[in-house]
This record gives sequence, structure tokens and C-alpha cells, in this order.
Amino acid sequence: MDVKRLILIVKVLKKSIEMPKARVKFKLFYTVLSLLYVPTTFGTTGNPENVSIWGPGLEAHHIIMPARYFFVDVPDYKVQSDNFEVVIQGETALKKPCRIWSNILDRKNGSFIVRYKVYETCSNIKISVKLGNKHVAKSPYVIDQIVYSDDCFCPKKDIPEILKTWHCEAIPPQITKNLKEFQTIDWDIERPKVIKQFNQPTSVSLCHYVIKNNEIYRKCYGKYVGFNMFSDAILLSVARKAKLPDLEFFVNLGDWPLSTKNLKEKYPILSWCGSTDSYDIIMPTYELTESALENMGRVMLDMLSVQGNVENIWDKRESKLFWRGRDSNRHRLELINLSRKYPELINASLTNFFFYRDEEIVYGPKSEHISFFKFFDYKYQLAIDGTVAPYRTPFLLVGGSLVFKPHSKYFEYFYEQLEPHIHYVPVKTDLSDLKEKIIWAKDHDQEAKIIAQNGQNFANNHLLPEHVFCYYFHVLNELGKVIKSEVRVLEDMELVSQKKNVCNCLEDNIKQEL
Ligand SMILES: *[C@@H]1O[C@H](CO)[C@@H](O)[C@H](O)[C@H]1NC(C)=O
Ligand SMILES: *[C@@H]1O[C@H](CO)[C@@H](O)[C@H](O)[C@H]1NC(C)=O
Ligand SMILES: *[C@@H]1O[C@H](CO)[C@@H](O)[C@H](O)[C@H]1NC(C)=O
Repeated sequence: MDVKRLILIVKVLKKSIEMPKARVKFKLFYTVLSLLYVPTTFGTTGNPENVSIWGPGLEAHHIIMPARYFFVDVPDYKVQSDNFEVVIQGETALKKPCRIWSNILDRKNGSFIVRYKVYETCSNIKISVKLGNKHVAKSPYVIDQIVYSDDCFCPKKDIPEILKTWHCEAIPPQITKNLKEFQTIDWDIERPKVIKQFNQPTSVSLCHYVIKNNEIYRKCYGKYVGFNMFSDAILLSVARKAKLPDLEFFVNLGDWPLSTKNLKEKYPILSWCGSTDSYDIIMPTYELTESALENMGRVMLDMLSVQGNVENIWDKRESKLFWRGRDSNRHRLELINLSRKYPELINASLTNFFFYRDEEIVYGPKSEHISFFKFFDYKYQLAIDGTVAPYRTPFLLVGGSLVFKPHSKYFEYFYEQLEPHIHYVPVKTDLSDLKEKIIWAKDHDQEAKIIAQNGQNFANNHLLPEHVFCYYFHVLNELGKVIKSEVRVLEDMELVSQKKNVCNCLEDNIKQEL
């Protein structure tokens, strides 16, 4: 039992809670700035001059995303959301107001996430952020360059440039680790081998992609290839943003990694989920990818919306572990047993029976669907595997509850950077120590809260839409470096086309006119 170690680490950590990086930078900058600034006080309500505003949404001209967003932190200010106002305006080429939709997510601790969607090419975007009718920080922010909607197909920069303008972090360790196994890829040799090995239509769903001159081509293998909508969507999206190198690769549409260590050779295949016994090159899960692409769109649950829709005050959350999900893993049944044995610690039930249908009598009845946001009425969450790693982990982390994570051979693209006892509490695969770890958390509420906050900060620094895009830019960029064969579109591939491009890639035209 390493609860003692846990306490020790938490004690050390207490002094160094992970701070959101961008915010620290801004604060330093702000300190310098505030020397020149005559502060206006807000009476007893706090110091609006300490407001920090940062985020990719302030650089909408070169950070193009489906939903732009930025953060506003108002320390010590008893904020009433009706006192807080954001107006975002811009104009079209014809000098008409352009269509922009924005919304504010209130994190209820004086911190807001502002999101906005740009529906057409805009210029002179002006972002005003006001508290009690006064501009705060450096508001209004004016973007005097062309801002494209995310639908525009106007790639101008190559990936290395994009990585810089997006402020992407260095190559994530998972990519380095994966590509160590594939220092050079000659597809003329590998391609037939991959197809021969994995063309098993009933059990494998795999797509072969070629990117040539920023156009996407593919051929899929398998009976169920509907999930190619996710890989298509992200590839089309990055191709709209960056000039991609010519590339060839395979994407595994299934959950289980394919290039397992029991096979005679290693195959460079991109997968949503990794495992310690396979060589697949990991990318963000389709769930997280989709939530980045459909932010302020079709998807309700995303890494930002969670933060504005949950009970955000730790002390108001109930000190229990809450879990809902389907029966996709035997250990989940153990969880149901534990929850019955210790109802004062665990509230868990299954929402669907599929894998263990015969045992519904024992582990049922299945419970009603409950909104994911309601999970955070509780302090403790469990990231327990289903068929593979639980794709909800990023959402659990960002919700600000304490995440307990059973040991597992499966992992997502960011686990390499996630640290036990710092960002989450590890538990045994069979959950045999879950009870005592929950009791530890109940008895050490401050320590538990710190780990929960660290987990949330980690998510805000590594798992938001900007980071998901950065990860894809990096993966494609690094793949480009190791592919040694000539990239050509094969005869039986089909073009995955962009939506009709209604955008005039203005800047280029203007430059040409000059
Ligand atoms: C408010 O909570 C968020 C997480 O929800 C955190 O990142 C932020 O730093 C907090 N802001 C303040 C002003 O305490
Ligand atoms: C759950 O408890 C029942 C009754 O004690 C036991 O028979 C069953 O094996 C347990 N299930 C699991 C998955 O451990
Ligand atoms: C478990 O949680 C659900 C949903 O919040 C609630 O309706 C139910 O009463 C809880 N069960 C127990 C035993 O607390």
C-alpha cells in the first residue's frame, strides 16, 4: 500500500501546484505592464486590474479552429456573470457585420472561458471584455488581419511554421517513443505486408491514406469502416490549416491496437489507443478529436463545455466515487459489487448490458442515463478500462474531481506525461485497493483536492482542442521525416474531398494584386 508515499508526494507538491503555463507567462508580462497602469479599484469587490486574459482565440488570424476560445481570470473578484460582458465583432469584405456566435462558460470561481465561432471571412475583429461596463486587461483586443472561418481551405504555412504560430509544445514524448521503432518507413516494402497481415474484413477495419499536394486519398479495408468519418474529418481539417508534407500511412479504425508484439514484424499503424504489448503509433482518440472538431457544434460534451456545466466548487461535491458506464470489462462488474458493499463510498451502476448480458440479473438492473456533467456532483471519479482505455479520461480530468485510475496495459496519447499521485490516484487493476484509497482521499481532503486540481490543470494545458490539433501536426510532421518511399496516389484510392470552398483566400489575392 503506497498511501504513505502518496501523502509524502502530496506534501511536496502542495508547494508547487502546477500552474497553467500561459497564465504564468501573462502574469509576468502583466507585472511589467501594470507599472505603467493606473489601477481603478472596484470597491470591495476586488481588483479587476489583475484580470488575466489569454488563449488562442486572441490570435484568431493564425490559430484557426472550429471554435476559437480564450480564458479570463478575475482573481478575488466576486463575479456575477451578469456583470461580465464580452462582445466580439468583425466585418466582412463588404464591410457588413460578420456572423460570429459566442458564448461564455462560467467556471464559477472568477474564471471564464469565452468561445466564439466565425462563420465567414472577417477582418477587424474586435474583442471587448468588460466587467461592470469597464474594459479589463488589454481589452479591446483588435485583430487587424484576415480571420478565416474553419471551413476555409487556405493553407499557407507548412507544419513547422504552424507549430510555432500555434505555440505548440515540443514533440510529445509518446510520438518520440512510437517513432523510435520506425526510424525509416519504405512503404513500397511495408504497404503489401500491412495489407496482407490486416486485410481481415470481419475483424479488422483499417484505412490506407495518402496525402498528396494537401489532398486526402484513401482506401479502406474491412466490413465496418464507418469510423473513417473521424479520421477523414481530422485530416481534412489539418489539410485546411497547414501545407502538409506528402504522406502515406494506415489508420486503424478499431479500438484495439493492431501491431501487437506477438506478430513477427512491427507495423507502423496509427491507432486511437495504445498498449504496452503493441507498436501502434498513437493519436488522440476519436472521441477527443471529434469534440475538438465539433466544439460549439454537434457535440455537447467537450473539454471546454465540461468546465462551464459542472458543480465547480470542490466542497460542494459529495465525497463519493461516482461511476456510470456499460459492461465492457469484467472489472466493471467488480466495481458494481464494491458499490453494493460500500454504498457510503461508491455510487456505481451499469447503464447497458452487452458483453455480460446473461449476468444482468446479478449486476442489474441497468440504471437510467445520467448527464456526464452530473458526474461532477461527486468528488471522486474512476477511469476504468472498457474494451480498451476509457476514452472519457480527458473529460474526467478536466472536470476537477479526483480521478482514480486502475493500472492497465492500455493507454491514450497523453498518459506518457500523466503522473500517478500527482495528476491522479493509481489503483490496482482488480480494484482490490479502491476502497482504502477512497477512504484515504476522504481523510485527506486537501491533498485530494490538490491532485484533482493538478489533473484539471494538466488537462487545460495539454488536452484542449489546440493541443489535439498540435498533436496531429506533430504526428504528421514526424511521419513525414521517416517516410523514405515516393508518395503517390494508388489507382484504387478515392479522393476524400473538402467541402466546396466558399472562401476567397484573400491574403494571397491581395499580395498578388500588389
Ligand atoms: C478557476 O478554476 C479553473 C479550473 O476550473 C482554474 O484553472 C482557474 O485557475 C481558477 N481561477 C481562479 C481565478 O481561481
Ligand atoms: C460479485 O459478487 C458475487 C457475490 O458475492 C460473486 O459471486 C461474483 O463473483 C462477484 N463478481 C466479480 C466480478 O467479482
Ligand atoms: C446514486 O446516484 C444517483 C444519481 O445521482 C442517485 O439518484 C442515487 O440516489 C444514488 N444512490 C445512492 C445509493 O446514493
